[in-house]
Amino acid sequence: MNDMTPTREQREARLEGMGCKRKRVEDVRFTQGKGQYVDDVKLPGMLHGDFVRSPHPHARIVSINTEKALQVPGVLAVLTAETLKTVNLAWMPTLAGDVQMVLADGKVLFQNQEVAFVVATDRYAADDGINAVEVEYEPLPALVDPFTSMNDDAPVLREDLAGKTEGAHGPRRHHNHIFEWTVGDRDLTDAAFRKADVTIKEMISYHRTHPSPLETCQCVCSFDKIRGELTIYGTFQAPHVIRTVVALIAKIPEHKIHVIAPDIGGGFGNKVGAYPGYICAAVASIVTGKPVKWVEDRIENLTATSFARDYHMTTEIAATNDGKVTGLRVHVLADHGAFDACADPSKWPAGFFNIVTGSYDFPVAHLSVDGVYTNKAPGGVAYRCSFRVTEAAYCIERGMDILAQKLGMDPAELRLKNFVKAEQFPYNSALGWEYDSGDYHTAMRQMMEKVDYAGLRREQAEKREAFKRGETREVMGIGISFFTEIVGAGPSKNCDILGIAMFDSCEIRLHPTGAGIARVGSKSQGQGHETTWAQIIATEIGIPSDDIMIEEGNTDTAPYGLGTYGSRSTPVAGAAIAMAARKIRAKAQMIAAYKLEVHEDDLEWDIDGFRVKGLPEKYLGMKDICWIAYNSPPPGMEPGLEAVSYYDPPNMTYPFGAYLCVMDIDVDTGVYKVKRFYALDDCGTRINPMIIDGQVHGGLTEAFAIAMGQEIHYDENGNVTTGSLMDFFMPTAVETPVWETDFTVTPSPHHPIGAKGVGESPNVGGVPAFSNAVNDAFSFLGTTHIQMPHDYWRNWKVAKELGVVG
Ligand code: CDP
Repeated sequence: MNDMTPTREQREARLEGMGCKRKRVEDVRFTQGKGQYVDDVKLPGMLHGDFVRSPHPHARIVSINTEKALQVPGVLAVLTAETLKTVNLAWMPTLAGDVQMVLADGKVLFQNQEVAFVVATDRYAADDGINAVEVEYEPLPALVDPFTSMNDDAPVLREDLAGKTEGAHGPRRHHNHIFEWTVGDRDLTDAAFRKADVTIKEMISYHRTHPSPLETCQCVCSFDKIRGELTIYGTFQAPHVIRTVVALIAKIPEHKIHVIAPDIGGGFGNKVGAYPGYICAAVASIVTGKPVKWVEDRIENLTATSFARDYHMTTEIAATNDGKVTGLRVHVLADHGAFDACADPSKWPAGFFNIVTGSYDFPVAHLSVDGVYTNKAPGGVAYRCSFRVTEAAYCIERGMDILAQKLGMDPAELRLKNFVKAEQFPYNSALGWEYDSGDYHTAMRQMMEKVDYAGLRREQAEKREAFKRGETREVMGIGISFFTEIVGAGPSKNCDILGIAMFDSCEIRLHPTGAGIARVGSKSQGQGHETTWAQIIATEIGIPSDDIMIEEGNTDTAPYGLGTYGSRSTPVAGAAIAMAARKIRAKAQMIAAYKLEVHEDDLEWDIDGFRVKGLPEKYLGMKDICWIAYNSPPPGMEPGLEAVSYYDPPNMTYPFGAYLCVMDIDVDTGVYKVKRFYALDDCGTRINPMIIDGQVHGGLTEAFAIAMGQEIHYDENGNVTTGSLMDFFMPTAVETPVWETDFTVTPSPHHPIGAKGVGESPNVGGVPAFSNAVNDAFSFLGTTHIQMPHDYWRNWKVAKELGVVG
């Protein structure tokens, strides 16, 4: 060794591997406006398609006249359900086992439903064509309130299901009933409630909202008649699943379908499922022989593509007088809109809502969920959430606060008393999950210390006295949320989509000069996969991150993967990446042993190459091994250095976190000020702390939006009243609070690198923290539960109802 020999620290730093705050490589193109999004795809002779949509939430279609539209200059075709029937595509399957109209067939079931598809030479001509299509409707009564869905006199929404008493998830009790799903032990839970010293019961609603990504849903379909091949560019979170769905419903051989998801401007669950726009653009391309582009506008995105939440959760907790929980009983009324198009793994009609016992050691629990149809847009997507986990976390975190209030106990103290203890992991919950790892007490105490929880409560007590004396018009709330997530769907034993097991995949190919490419089955929508996936490989095989190119989203080149949603990328694809890298390292070890003339077992891994144990000067670096793999591999060994891994996780991962929100609300105006928001996240091994911070900031901003105003609201006639960004709350930098982030590290014992997901956590944990702060602010005036969203007007109304404003 001489002075020029890099130190271990320098060698490690050069890799920019796991744990490094590596700058996001994709931002070089994003910040210079050089991203390639679907709308940047411009093919020769490309046509544009757009929808005629229904102004009615529920109506019979008497007639559709397309004659005048076809005379509009530039309009080439108008598709209706009748056209689609000729190719058997008037209806399409949903991910939840239901069917959905592609174009209105006899009836419309929600406002802005797709009625006809106009294809024209440009978008303006398509728009003129839309205005010339004549549709005669016969309005029918609209069913808006899910609580009346199963009344005897409720209008029949789904005439196609007439007489069907069995749905995809078991018996249907009523013409508007979709399924009932139950988990847990009803008898033991009932007995716990009978014996309880204290019980609480509250209807906790999580209102309908929408992921609303910056880039709306869109695609370009191009059918090559000569080759019989269909190429689809689309904003897809799961490109391979889209390819399989298209093959199944359009009967095109799967190898002749090329799905390409280029850069995506946010997904948040909105871009998992299949929409009528994709089918119509594909059919229009087949019919016209030209590429066809479909791009949603903002109003269409908000009102017609997948909504999120809309869960109405009757929540009961049984406890002892000293605050030990003894039972949990939850009934959910789930409003699924006109079609059950929830994006959940096949066997889970309410997703992973049975994580509703949260971070607490409930000895018994029982859950039942009823899904119902209403005249609203279909969906039920996991908006930055792992399949209904957000709803579950909100339910239990509000429930725990309500119980604390009834017991006269501090909400932090109640949580500490009931947490699953560190020594109980792996922990089997009363509703059937095996939590992999956790240390809740440490995280909670760290949070309480960092924010000076005791000091905050003293400040609150003083402010309350001052309010009572009339010295201030502000009430102060402290909202705690301690959430446990379940992410990484999922083990093939219990998770599939349309029968395909929810594994994920990675293929790594190293080049002779020691650089390489990794192709992954996940698909980034802004999460920074190009940066972090390379970091995993760098640590595993000692090639610098900068020398690894990451490619996702092209079904012709990437191995089959189930895509990116529900924070599954790191738990599943991240594991596949580590496992593929380890296969490469195993082959590299054989090459190094041959070259260094020792047995493989005599080698040890040392940051970026192999060293002979006990002879530190005998070393072969990975860059050299790459060259040897292509130049002079050991006799009998295949040349090259590449590997593929398909990873089926043995379990989900269970990230957790402790959040706290401090808020002041002016009772005279309802205006709130978020004074402090602290978020501690534990996502196991941290790949890139800077990206994790970014994920937490983004998720908290969405949580803030949802809790404090963001809503898809329908009036009593079924009209969407929040169908544009004038009414749908989308916070800007002006409204967004300042976030304080923190962490603990409890690795997952079954994940190859110990990592858990993080992308969803801040949304899951953030919403209850905001809502608990509002509820806590008003609780000393006599409230028990105030429904979200907590916008200024609703806050003012609460104050008015409490009689504290004139
Ligand atoms: O599935 P999705 O990519 O939305 O979520 P995720 O798996 O939670 O990952 C989001 C981003 O955070 C990715 O770039 C991950 O690599 C990064 N991350 C990390 O650096 N460390 C973790 N333990 C978890 C995620």
